[in-house]
This record gives sequence, C-alpha cells and structure tokens, in this order.
Amino acid sequence: MVILVTGGAGFIGANFILDWLRVNDEPVLNLDKLTYAGNLENLTSLTGDARHVFVQGDIGDRVLLDKLLAEHRPRAIVNFAAESHVDRSIHGPEDFIQTNVVGTFHLLEAVRGHWTNLPDDEKAAFRFLHVSTDEVYGSLEVGDAPFTESTPFSPNSPYSASKASSDHLVRAYHHTYGLPMLTTNCSNNYGPHQFPEKLIPLMILNATRGKPLPIYGDGMNVRDWLYVTDHCSAIRTVLQNGRLGETYNIGGWNEMPNIEIVKTVCALLDEMRPDAAGPYTRLLTYVTDRPGHDRRYAMDASKIHQELGWKPAETFETGIRKTVRWYLDNMQWVENVASGEYRKWLDTNYAERGAQ
Ligand code: NAD
Ligand code: DAU
Repeated sequence: MVILVTGGAGFIGANFILDWLRVNDEPVLNLDKLTYAGNLENLTSLTGDARHVFVQGDIGDRVLLDKLLAEHRPRAIVNFAAESHVDRSIHGPEDFIQTNVVGTFHLLEAVRGHWTNLPDDEKAAFRFLHVSTDEVYGSLEVGDAPFTESTPFSPNSPYSASKASSDHLVRAYHHTYGLPMLTTNCSNNYGPHQFPEKLIPLMILNATRGKPLPIYGDGMNVRDWLYVTDHCSAIRTVLQNGRLGETYNIGGWNEMPNIEIVKTVCALLDEMRPDAAGPYTRLLTYVTDRPGHDRRYAMDASKIHQELGWKPAETFETGIRKTVRWYLDNMQWVENVASGEYRKWLDTNYAERGAQ
C-alpha cells in the first residue's frame, strides 16, 4: 500500500509527509515540481528512509502521471500541489491558472483513467483528497457568521478563483464519473517550513534582520489561524473516515487581526531574542494595502468535529511559540530559501508599496 502526495516539498505537504511517516509506516510517493516554494530541505530528516519516494514532476504532466499511477498503484492521492500566494497571483496570475486549474484537470483525468480500470475492491477503497482553502468563500464583515460548507463560493483574488475552479472540478468528477472524492477547505496555516513570503515567517525574518515589518492597510484584516500539524491531522481524519463527495471545513476557531498576530510575534522575539535596539514593534510599518484585500475569513469547523471527531491540538499560544522557536533554531533553512528568487520577489511586492 502506498499513498501519492502532490506538492509534498512545500510547506503543508512536507509537514503532512513528516507527520504521516511519524504515525504510520505506509510509504509515500511524493510528486512535486519544485517551484520556488518546493524545497527538499524540508524533508532531509527522511534521507535514506525507503518509505519516502520523491519524483520531480508536474501534476499537469499526463504521461508522467499515467506512468506513476500504473507503477505504484497508490490507494489514495492527497493533492496539495498549487501556487499558493495571493500577492503573487495578483502580480502574475498565469501560473495559478496553469497549475491550480489546468494542472488539477490533468491530474483528475489521469486519476479517472486509472480508477476506472481498477478491480472492484481497489476501486471501492480508493480515495482522492483535494486540499483547498477558506478563501473560495470570499470575504466576511465583522459580525457575519463564519463560513460553512454550504456558503456559496465568492472568490476575490486570482489565487482563490483558481482554487475555487479546482474545487468545482473535483466536485464535478465525483458527481459525473463517481470518482471517490473528498475536499477540505482550510484556514490560514502557520508553523515550521513555511516560505517567508507569508505573513508570520516574513515578520520573523524581517525582525531578526532589523528590517521593517510591512502591515497592509490598517492591519485589521482578520484571518483564522491553524497550526500546520493540526491541518495535517484533519486531512488524515478526512482521508480515513470522510464521506465521499463531501467537503469539510477546517479551522482553528482562532480569528485574529493581522496587527495582533504581528505584535504577538514581536513579543515572543523580545523574549527569545531580545534586540539591544529596542522592542521589535519599533519596526511596524503600515504600507499600501493588497488590491482587493479580503477583510475577514472565519471558519465554522463544526462538521468535521461532529462527524469525524477532529479538533485542533494546539492553541494559538502554543503554536506560535513553537513556530517562532523553530525559525530562530533554523536560521540556516531560512538563509537557504531567502536566495536570489526570494529577494527578487521582495522587490516586486514591497518596493512600490512604501510606508503609508
Ligand atoms: P506552498 O506554496 O508552500 O507549496 C506548494 C507546493 O506545490 C510546492 O512544493 C511546489 O513546488 C508544488 N507545486 C507547485 N506547482 C506544482 C505543479 N504544477 N506540480 C507539482 N507540484 C507543484 O503551499 P502550501 O502553503 O503548502 O499549500 C499547500 C496546499 O494547501 C495548496 O493547495 C494551498 O492552496 C492549500 N492551503 C494552504 C493554506 C495555507 O495557509 N498555506 C491554507 C489552506 C489551504
Ligand atoms: O486562508 C487560507 C490562505 O491563507 C491560503 O489559501 C493561502 O495559500 C495562504 O497564502 C494564506 O493566504 P493569506 O493571503 O491570508 O496569507 P498571507 O500570509 O499572504 O497574508 C495573511 C494576512 O497578512 C493577509 O491579510 C495579508 C497580510 N499581510 C501579508 C503580508 C505577506 C501583511 O499585512 N503584510 C505582508 O507583508
């Protein structure tokens, strides 16, 4: 038995594989294109471990997919592979359409061809779990009820529109062809190995370098934060016991405005790595907002709790403390990813924003 994980060299995919192999021995075939966000250094602890097989490749490569499915006959696929950063989707949406929409389509076609020809017992046991986001539901105002699985899709960025498209394709392949699909929509993750283009690792990295901490707009946009290993345990739960064709919201019941997140990071840095120049909040800098910036996300995760018994193990206090500690203890990892391409991105995204 083996499972196929796509995008397993990225932030959540790598955490998922590390966790998966910590809690059971079923091997993982990891298909990842190794874009700027994919990093095999996330998986160095698995070097020499025969349970992890890595293949560099694109989910849109039908020939490769057909070959991998025929050779390895995975009993399940967990699809993490995606372009994932909203700001990048604003600067250049094409890669998002190619991977998140066209790539997912090719993956689904390959899976359809494979699954259709499986013997009945393997067909019945097979699962395809598509990993998606709360951003497909659009934006909430303060006081609105959190998103449920029946909230209509209303994506606002090229990223969320591309993810919504892939969710619809997954739904259609279940409805039309009977493929055994599961979809999860999760809120903002944080934790080890997150690429420092995202809010929390960017703030840690900039603070330790004495650079400005760029807060978009008024800093009052709200996200629901979940520690990454809790997302991983939710995915394992849905993979094992989720009802076919269903979607499950995953969230941390932990809404916070961005400015509070960044101040919490600053306070932990003050404690763990005090700076003689003064408290890290001195670096807070309000900058031009993200175009079309969604105001608030909030997830109602009661379905996965009531049906499948899942709830997060970490609180924000425990999770953010582990996260800051991990980045401070792994500055070499950070230095290695903060290379040429990364610096180019910082110039693209931040040079023109300026302080407000
Ligand atoms: P990430 O950007 O860190 O990693 C994405 C991975 O996918 C990288 O390893 C990259 O190399 C790989 N990849 C990209 N295009 C590919 C392609 N065409 N073929 C094969 N591999 C490809 O992303 P992440 O934050 O780990 O997110 C993983 C998934 O979870 C995404 O689908 C994202 O939409 C979803 N998600 C993320 C969050 C979050 O807060 N980060 C929350 C909810 C859902
Ligand atoms: O909600 C789930 C989504 O969370 C995932 O689907 C995406 O893949 C993931 O990237 C994340 O999207 P966000 O846009 O919410 O994450 P990001 O870390 O980019 O930004 C979080 C908030 O912080 C958002 O309101 C924008 C703000 N922000 C971000 C950056 C990078 C800043 O204020 N300053 C910054 O420099």
